Amino acid sequence: MDSYNHHNYIHSLEADRWLFHADVLVDKAHVVMLAERGIIRADEAAAILRCLQYIHLHSQSFLEDELPNYEDVHTAIESFVIREIGEDAGGRMHTARSRNDEVATCIRIALREELLRVMKEVNELRHALIARAAENVETVMPGYTHLQHAQPTTLAHHCLAHADAFARDFARLITAYEHVNMSPLGAAAFAATGFPIDRMRTAKLLGFDSLLENSMDAVSTRDFVIETVSCYANLMTNLSRLAEEIILWSSSEFNFLILPDEYSTGSSIMPQKRNPDYAELVRARTGSVYGCLLSILSICKALPYSYNRDLQEVTPHLMRAARLSLASTSVMRGCVAKLKFNTERLAYEAARGFTTATELADTLVREAGLPFRTAYRIVASIAGSMLKLKGEGKEPEQDIVALIEHSCMDIIGKRLSELGLNPDKVREALDISSNIDKRLVTGGPAREEVMRMIRTRMEHLSHDNRRRDAKESHIKLCLSELEREVERKIQRLHT
Ligand code: ARG
Repeated sequence: MDSYNHHNYIHSLEADRWLFHADVLVDKAHVVMLAERGIIRADEAAAILRCLQYIHLHSQSFLEDELPNYEDVHTAIESFVIREIGEDAGGRMHTARSRNDEVATCIRIALREELLRVMKEVNELRHALIARAAENVETVMPGYTHLQHAQPTTLAHHCLAHADAFARDFARLITAYEHVNMSPLGAAAFAATGFPIDRMRTAKLLGFDSLLENSMDAVSTRDFVIETVSCYANLMTNLSRLAEEIILWSSSEFNFLILPDEYSTGSSIMPQKRNPDYAELVRARTGSVYGCLLSILSICKALPYSYNRDLQEVTPHLMRAARLSLASTSVMRGCVAKLKFNTERLAYEAARGFTTATELADTLVREAGLPFRTAYRIVASIAGSMLKLKGEGKEPEQDIVALIEHSCMDIIGKRLSELGLNPDKVREALDISSNIDKRLVTGGPAREEVMRMIRTRMEHLSHDNRRRDAKESHIKLCLSELEREVERKIQRLHT
């Protein structure tokens, strides 16, 4: 819409394009049911359905030439039907319903499609992350807290951490799907109707799992939109954190990875640049999705029951959030699959910053029987000395055993030999791989545990894919049954 004027101020053109396909389905299911219940005659139903088939076949020109002339998609379709077949038959299509239940039904149909798409993409991203983990079980790297070197881990462990976050996103999305896929149709304006409609029949024909029973609730609520966009916001947060790491890790300071060509861009002035623009836009669009969520919450918060036109303003934000989330997931999936990790740099950095300090303290606990806090103080004092030596341009790692000796004396007044501490154990504590191997508890980065997690995550992923696919097939089945019903009703007219 170029600019607002008095007439188009109330239009919902952009959202109605998104709802068009759903609206034709809703019209078909409603008309089939009206005929079955004897509310309209078979020949009237057939004429309307034939016209709806025509609109369906000529979607493109309908959207371009017809839609912009009307207040909304519902009015546009009904007006077209009446113009084509006359008001005697066409004027019966809107019996026993309102645009209020109609639009709520359309949004749910369009949204469940979006959810199925994003769930598929989220699962592909999970797959990409698990695959990268499987390639990097042995790739050591520094793990961070506060963006400071903390403890050594593996790239596999790190990738699986992200994969688990996206597994929860999937779980949230499929729950939202279940709340979306309920039928408000038949609620009419809000007080249902005196015609003997069959709400369950239209729900089944349209692939809904159940009814939103209370007809006032059915037209008033957009909580399913809030729930879904909250899931999108959560998903985008997880994508953005992954994007942020890709941005950091591709910088020359980190130099942990090389961006794939398709996911980096040059500069118009600096010929050497490989900028992480895709990841940056994922990060930025996370903010846009939060904006959508906040807009929707604000629009809904003070609406008296039942329908208010304010609800129309929710739909464009929903569409935008759906579009951005789907595209961002797909970008991150493609990017993750093609990142090149600089495993030498990762290994080099894994040892820097005294990342083995925790394991050294743990070794003093295990081997010398010291309380953890005492061991902690000894190692903290070693870290202090190391920092000082480094400041003097020395390499303190060379003589770590002497440093430990010195700190033990300093803190508890005992020699290493008195503590029964074997220097081999000390060296083992300082070895990156053995640090990781020791962390075998559930969820730890040790090889075996990571291999187990990779296996279970792959199984979990196939299970989730089957759950998602079952929903998609169910809808396909119902909608093809609807098409068959429509054809049967049209055929009857000719016989
Ligand atoms: N375009 C409207 C919407 O999105 C359709 C429903 C209009 N209903 C009404 N009572 N004016 O909500």
